[in-house]
Parts: sequence; structure tokens; C-alpha cells
Amino acid sequence: MTLQNNIFSGLFVGQNLLSLKEVDSTNNFLKNLLTNSKPVPEGTVIMAETQFAGRGQQNNKWHAEPGKNLTFSILLKPTFLSVTEQFDLTRAVSLGVYDTLCPILGSALKIKWPNDIYYGDKKLGGMLIENILQGNQIKSAIIGIGLNINQDVFPDEASNATSVKQILHKDYDLRLILAEICNNVEAYYLSLKAGKINDVRNAYLNRLYWFNEQKRFKAGDDVFEGIITGVKDNGLLVVQQNDNENTYNLKEIEFLNNIKP
Ligand code: BTN
Repeated sequence: MTLQNNIFSGLFVGQNLLSLKEVDSTNNFLKNLLTNSKPVPEGTVIMAETQFAGRGQQNNKWHAEPGKNLTFSILLKPTFLSVTEQFDLTRAVSLGVYDTLCPILGSALKIKWPNDIYYGDKKLGGMLIENILQGNQIKSAIIGIGLNINQDVFPDEASNATSVKQILHKDYDLRLILAEICNNVEAYYLSLKAGKINDVRNAYLNRLYWFNEQKRFKAGDDVFEGIITGVKDNGLLVVQQNDNENTYNLKEIEFLNNIKP
């Protein structure tokens, strides 16, 4: 990555950047900003050095060592997407993050359905996208992204976490990575806006963790071997088991570790 005068080279994502020392959660901060003040420009980014109540998916907490990682939220206003197309935004953002890290980390990097960033079998980051709907449209989307960049060690309870530092043994400039993510997210977002939804859907599938591989899953009490064969337009995961294809939402299926020989 080269250092430019304005490293945010896109049109709008990251042009209005607010950097906070400490906040509960950048998603909460952005949500409050939307309700409390004058219009917030699309593409506004709130980043924080420390989040003391960072939130993850499924009511989990998001922990990150202060100052060493990226924790930020982007405001988008995808009014051109209907509620049924919400998952296309998830795809676009995941791809923007993926394309930023892939030149550094290579092809062991994958997007784990629905929107985790994985390196090998370890989690490098994730996102929490909170949409504000108006009728059938997405009025605003608060896109919270947490990525482990320069953290050296993780607590035992986060045994599945990794960071760019753990993988490459060097520190990276958080702002440069943030700027590149903003540029790439904007590019995919504009593709969606231009109607290139199929390109975005195909790109997502091409980078998907465990795609077309025989793996072990758990659904309810049922542990089974299956193959991820696709992701429905609305984001449901499609897993083939024997001759049947079933669809799952996030709460319905768990990825188990690799099949033991
Ligand atoms: C997950 O994988 O569970 C999603 C993690 C999302 C964490 C980010 S950090 C910035 C933003 N603010 C939050 O409180 N959460 C998201």
C-alpha cells in the first residue's frame, strides 16, 4: 500500500471520518448520531481506539485490545435495495474487507458465511450490520466492522481468533487498512447500485469458506456431513446432505471442526 495525501481515494466512504478515543460501541454511536442531530452524510465512518461495550453477532460481545485493532462503523443509505435484498449489502461489505486483506494474506483468506473473515480455520474479524428500514426499503445501514490487526495474543476464551500480526509477525498501519476497506466497500456498493448484483453474488461465492467441500455441521441435535452448495438470494445457506438440499439461517446451523479421520 502506498501512502498518499488523501488515502481515502473513493467518492464518499470515509470522507467524513470521526476518530474516537473511547466509546461504548461505534454502531451505537452512529445510531445515536442518526436520531439526535442534523443529517449525517452517507459514507460517514466512526472509528474507535477502544470500545468498552463492543457488540458482536447473536448478542455476543466483541473484545479487541485497545489501539491495536480496527473497530469502526460505516453509514450507508442503500435506499435502492429492498428489504429482500439486504443480504447483497452483506456480500458487498464482506467482499470489500476481503479484497483489502487478500493482497496481504493470500488465498487462505475466506469469507465464512454469512460475514466472518477467516484465515484458515481462524477468525480474523466480523461484522454487525444493523439496517434501519422504511417500508420495503433500507433507509440506512450501520455497518460495524471489527478486524484483528496488530493484537499479539488472545484470551483463552477466544481460542479461535487470529490477527494479521499473528499470521505475518509484523505491525500494520490501521489507518491505511481502514482507508483501503472504505475504498473497496465503496466500489462493491457502487456495483450493487449499478445493478451488477450477479457479479457481487458470484464474487462472494468464489471466496466462501467450505464452499463445495464435504464438512461437518450441526443443526439442532443433528450432526451431519454435508456440502455447502450455495447461498440463496436472501442469504440462507444451502447445504447438501446425501441427496437433499436444505437451507439454514444463522441460528439454525453451526460449522463443526474438520472431519476427524
Ligand atoms: C461478529 O463477528 O460477531 C461481529 C463483530 C462486529 C464488531 C464490530 S467492532 C465495530 C462495531 N461496533 C460494535 O459494537 N460492533 C461492531
